[in-house]
Amino acid sequence: MLTKDTTYVVMGLLDSDSIAYSIGKTIEQWGGKVIFTVQSERMKRIFLDRSKKLSDEEKAALNIKYCGITIDEEVKTLFSEIGPIGGVIHSIAFANPKTCMGEEFHTDAYEDLKAGFHISAVSLATVVRYAQPHVEKGGGIVALTFASELAFPYYNWMGVNKAALEAVVRALARRHGKDNLHINAVSAGPVATKAAGAIPGFSALSDTWSRISPLPWGDSAEDKQEIAHAAVFLLGPCSKKITGQVLYVDGGASVIGGELVPSERPRALRD
Ligand SMILES: NC(=O)c1ccc[n+]([C@@H]2O[C@H](COP(=O)([O-])OP(=O)(O)OC[C@H]3O[C@@H](n4cnc5c(N)ncnc54)[C@H](O)[C@@H]3O)[C@@H](O)[C@H]2O)c1
Repeated sequence: MLTKDTTYVVMGLLDSDSIAYSIGKTIEQWGGKVIFTVQSERMKRIFLDRSKKLSDEEKAALNIKYCGITIDEEVKTLFSEIGPIGGVIHSIAFANPKTCMGEEFHTDAYEDLKAGFHISAVSLATVVRYAQPHVEKGGGIVALTFASELAFPYYNWMGVNKAALEAVVRALARRHGKDNLHINAVSAGPVATKAAGAIPGFSALSDTWSRISPLPWGDSAEDKQEIAHAAVFLLGPCSKKITGQVLYVDGGASVIGGELVPSERPRALRD
């Protein structure tokens, strides 16, 4: 699925629960090399260094660079320093959970809205702009999104950001076809991570998924692995004629109307 020994940049590592971590490990399983980016050295100290799920050896083996995604100079420097790459994963999002998510949709926290839009949607364009000269022909860019065609409770402005992110994917696919870049998104069902845990009502959303996903959904480790498989497919040469698309890895929840009736539920959830 990947070109062996090619280097891929995986942006958005926080700890070993991050979707970025699962994707990075899957890239390595397919013979690729991984450079992870973490937002800042401070974030690494708070989350990754304190994480008990990885041994010191596993942590030391991670190739990590720092990159604040809204700071153009940091993105530019990152790609100019790392040499040729096969592609980039953008696994980054943020919206202030106190003002942009929750029970009430309306807000006057316009600065928070702008920051969330910049981090979660605009930043994909920044990444592609500075990565493109360093991506080998036929390279892939993959962003992570979530069911933006539906309005979910609590998710509010992050849903708006995800719709924008998907539009950015299509615009970039159009702009960079001539550069031989294919640019897509994976729309993932809910999995437990730090970002997800910060969404008010996330556990309710997660519970809902077991009632609307025809395929079993809810084992985060297994679900993340399948999200990672799809992301790696879109990153590598097997998908080089696919661009501007959103590939759903959500157990099929996006295609059904209403909840599954009891007889349709995965066997383990029926009783
Ligand atoms: N967890 C889910 O249920 C789920 C479902 C669908 C899509 N996603 C998407 O997957 C992606 C990864 O999220 P995750 O769930 O792995 O959570 P996570 O918290 O592990 O990752 C989010 C990352 O975004 C980074 N980030 C935020 N602001 C940044 C900034 N200014 N500069 C650089 N990095 C910044 C964080 O540091 C973190 O590494 C996000 O785009 C998220 O919306 C998650």
